[in-house]
Amino acid sequence: MDLASVRTVGAYNDEFTRSIDDPEGFWLDAATAVDWIDPPTRALDDSAAPLYRWFPDATLNTCVNALDRHVEAGHGDRPALIWDSAMVGEQRTYTYAQLRDAVATFAGVLTAQGVAKGDRVIIYLPMIPEAAIAMLACARIGAVHSVVFGGFAAPELATRIDDAEPVAIVTASGGLEPGRTVEYLPMVQAAVELSATPPPAVIVKNRPQVAGSAADYGWLDWDEQFDRAAPAAPVEVAATDPLYILYTSGTTGKPKGVVRDNGGHAVALCWSMRNIYDISPGQVWWTASDVGWVVGHSYIVYGPLLIGATTVMYEGKPVGTPDAGAFWRVIAEHRAVALFTAPTALRAIRKADPEAAELAAYDVSSLRTLFAAGERLDPDTFFWASEKLGVPVVDHWWQTETGWSIVANLRGLEQMEIKPGSPTVPVPGYRVEVVDAGGKAVEPGTEGNIVIALPMPPGTLAGLWRDEERYRSSYLNTFDGYYLTGDSGYIDDDGYVFVLGRSDDVINVAGHRLSTGSIEAVVASHPAVAECAVVGIRDDLKGQRPSGYVVLKAGADLDEDTLRSELVALVREEIGAVATFRDVTVVAALPKTRSGKILRKTMRQIVDGEEYAVPSTIEDMSVLEVLAEQLAPKQ
Ligand code: COA
Ligand code: AMP
Repeated sequence: MDLASVRTVGAYNDEFTRSIDDPEGFWLDAATAVDWIDPPTRALDDSAAPLYRWFPDATLNTCVNALDRHVEAGHGDRPALIWDSAMVGEQRTYTYAQLRDAVATFAGVLTAQGVAKGDRVIIYLPMIPEAAIAMLACARIGAVHSVVFGGFAAPELATRIDDAEPVAIVTASGGLEPGRTVEYLPMVQAAVELSATPPPAVIVKNRPQVAGSAADYGWLDWDEQFDRAAPAAPVEVAATDPLYILYTSGTTGKPKGVVRDNGGHAVALCWSMRNIYDISPGQVWWTASDVGWVVGHSYIVYGPLLIGATTVMYEGKPVGTPDAGAFWRVIAEHRAVALFTAPTALRAIRKADPEAAELAAYDVSSLRTLFAAGERLDPDTFFWASEKLGVPVVDHWWQTETGWSIVANLRGLEQMEIKPGSPTVPVPGYRVEVVDAGGKAVEPGTEGNIVIALPMPPGTLAGLWRDEERYRSSYLNTFDGYYLTGDSGYIDDDGYVFVLGRSDDVINVAGHRLSTGSIEAVVASHPAVAECAVVGIRDDLKGQRPSGYVVLKAGADLDEDTLRSELVALVREEIGAVATFRDVTVVAALPKTRSGKILRKTMRQIVDGEEYAVPSTIEDMSVLEVLAEQLAPKQ
């Protein structure tokens, strides 16, 4: 598609309308951005609706699209991946040819361990180039990767091993957090021991900064295996074959294995890089997230490489590594044209450096756009970043399940007015609606459940790993013909979507998605706890944080400080540091409905100092009154 011809006023409306009126034509056109082995003759297979498959008769290899084809087109010397570690003070650049060779060789390592098409591989790695190499190596041989974020502890890793049943785990001796190292190998060992289906092979990238090595555990050393491996050729896969599983928090303790296909994913990401982010081949693009999250999958690894751009992979924090100028340094040194980050990171920078004085030390003139997602971009942060950076600050809304934007300001298509607090308008392919509890469309400006009419566009989840029933019950059964996003919000008279927050028990802490249910399960396992509720309360820096309310068993003899430190340690051990669980309050009783449902929303509203309506189904009003007295914010 010739972008110059569509970047005009009205282009968004034209493209959106075409995506709805003629999805076949729209997505087959978009599919020309991908190099297929067997090109698609049709876009959508709706024969098993409400389960859909995109490009059912096409085949391809995602790794070839991300690497080999750019080398073959003469761009082998172009930087593909720039690794910048503020933690070790090192930078490394891989050209497309170098990255292709490293990926092919590591694919050979996996093949030598018996990993074949369709097999799963768990990747538990910090932000080092090997993470991208391992992901792309899986894609090369048709294996299905499942990346687990390094901030998760052994039991979470074990749950994912049991669900995915991997043939191999690829890991490192550890990660680096400010002031401490995170040793991965004891966690991997504990997870393997906890798991009912331990994987046959564990491959370890040794990092000199972190203790522990493959030899200590009788596992395979990445470097040794790499030196003796023969490069593996790419394998042809169906567009509908899975590329990866990414586990995300649901409302229960058991994470959901979101499955992404190969073909729809490649098409959607290529389309998004050009039309949403306005990025062209050869430009430097930086997503400051982690490969353990969907943002890292789509926009650190696959999106930029699929279109032949240069991606920056940053190991470090927005502040403290070493200061609040860290992001500006990375932009300046690599001449990034766009940065994609979470609002929390911007709030952290603002807190440390309210005037953005650190900016003066860097030339960030290459930066054209700042993209934010992962949580709501609050207007305060929006205005601050807009003023300090002097570039458009563009919010966009999406989820692990969709893999790319549902609602965005499409910078490559039509640069629409930005309304603070809104991620702008539905992306072509997504029919976004707001409905009430009965599934009836609400008036503009009225808050309700945000839903997406089926089918969703290519690139969105193909289902949940080996759990069609849960896929249907979590997303498809609530409102017939619609995908339930789990978010609530409204659409204004101009068609702008405002996302206000989750309507379920999922919370968003520093852009990290967590389930209050899984934290509750850990808290409830403490011997002194009779029952508990965990709710996501407002946090100035992280957007939300989990806060626990605990009823003690009769006769439990321990003071609140001891209980707090034991519960904090327990959650850290069972879920991981990323849960950021620190608040524990002992209460006399929890408010419930007559059917025994804990009134978590009412509790959150009390703690946040919001108006709250007392549900007519409340079991005992006096419990709520006592609690309100205890928890209401002190003036
Ligand atoms: N491996 C191991 N531990 C990790 C980790 C990882 N990859 N990432 C975070 N942790 C740990 C942290 O060290 C911290 O541990 P601590 O309790 O011992 O201090 C804990 O998990 C909580 O981390 P975090 O929520 O990140 O808080 P923080 O205080 O360390 O940092 C910010 C605050 C704002 C700098 C940080 O949250 C941030 O950069 N946020 C942006 C989020 C983001 O990019 N999200 C991606 C979604 S798009
Ligand atoms: P994750 O699956 O981890 O990407 O988290 C997805 C959830 O994060 C969404 O369902 C929203 O609740 C929230 N979210 C992500 N991006 C935004 C945004 N731009 N505005 C508001 N909420 C967002």
